[in-house]
Amino acid sequence: MAEEFSPLFEPLQEIENPKKCIGKYIWMIITLPVTVWFMLTFRIHMPKCHLQQLYLPALDLSDTSNATAVFVATATLNPTLFFDLELENTMNDHSVRYSDINLTFYYGPNRNLTIANYRVPGFYQGKEKKAYRRDVVESHDLPWDDAIRKVSNGSTAVFRVDLVAKPTFRYWFWYSKRRWLRVGAKVEVDATGKKVKKEAIPLKSAAARGPRGGSGRMGFLQVLLGFVLSVVLLY
Ligand SMILES: *[C@@H]1O[C@H](CO)[C@@H](O)[C@H](O)[C@H]1NC(C)=O
Ligand SMILES: *[C@@H]1O[C@H](CO)[C@@H](O)[C@H](O)[C@H]1NC(C)=O
Ligand SMILES: *[C@@H]1O[C@H](CO)[C@@H](O)[C@H](O)[C@H]1NC(C)=O
Ligand SMILES: *[C@@H]1O[C@H](CO)[C@@H](O)[C@H](O)[C@H]1NC(C)=O
Repeated sequence: MAEEFSPLFEPLQEIENPKKCIGKYIWMIITLPVTVWFMLTFRIHMPKCHLQQLYLPALDLSDTSNATAVFVATATLNPTLFFDLELENTMNDHSVRYSDINLTFYYGPNRNLTIANYRVPGFYQGKEKKAYRRDVVESHDLPWDDAIRKVSNGSTAVFRVDLVAKPTFRYWFWYSKRRWLRVGAKVEVDATGKKVKKEAIPLKSAAARGPRGGSGRMGFLQVLLGFVLSVVLLY
């Protein structure tokens, strides 16, 4: 009987060695903030954004008998656009808290002509989770004649979708500073009213700036983290 219980008493014996115990807690007190700081500063990957679908019913000329009707009655045409957006948190150790996400739709490949704005309300996203946001937005100032002319002769109307957000990232109980997420993509739409590309279109950072921090610096800090973590785990 006594033998069976002995494992239960082992932790008590360890407490009897207070020097070792205190050393362990001092180490934890030193390494925990370092680890948290490191995780919240260097180990953050921005969410991945994909445009799953963009659909403009007014450009859907698949019913050709109505295509001509559209030309005649532009006043009665459906000025809406439908979008389906995917936001993916690829990290398995951080969750994401989004404040409002601003979507801007443009006609043409540049940001010259805004045709719609949309605000996605902020939300919380767990580790390795995907979120979908779909809605119908009313467009304005879209040069329909031009767009319909383009798609009806077999070429494409070009749109641009931009996403701006400033999420914060959580590691355990701690939050990082808010960081800008600015991505966008060019989307070609044909006479089906839908984007030409069948696959989801990745929204990419327009800025030429590379990822934060040099890779050499990352390498050094990863070694440091590895050291810190192994010290924590060995104790
Ligand atoms: C095509 O147009 C006709 C008349 O304008 C309308 O009755 C019909 O519902 C339209 N078809 C589609 C698929 O929109
Ligand atoms: C749109 O913007 C680009 C630069 O971003 C410029 O070169 C072009 O002339 C502009 N077009 C119009 C119609 O304003
Ligand atoms: C469609 O029209 C544009 C000019 O509006 C022209 O540049 C293009 O070559 C045409 N495409 C086809 C397939 O006819
Ligand atoms: C989104 O747009 C609103 C209104 O224009 C603005 O106040 C807000 O700061 C924007 N948010 C982001 C993250 O850019």
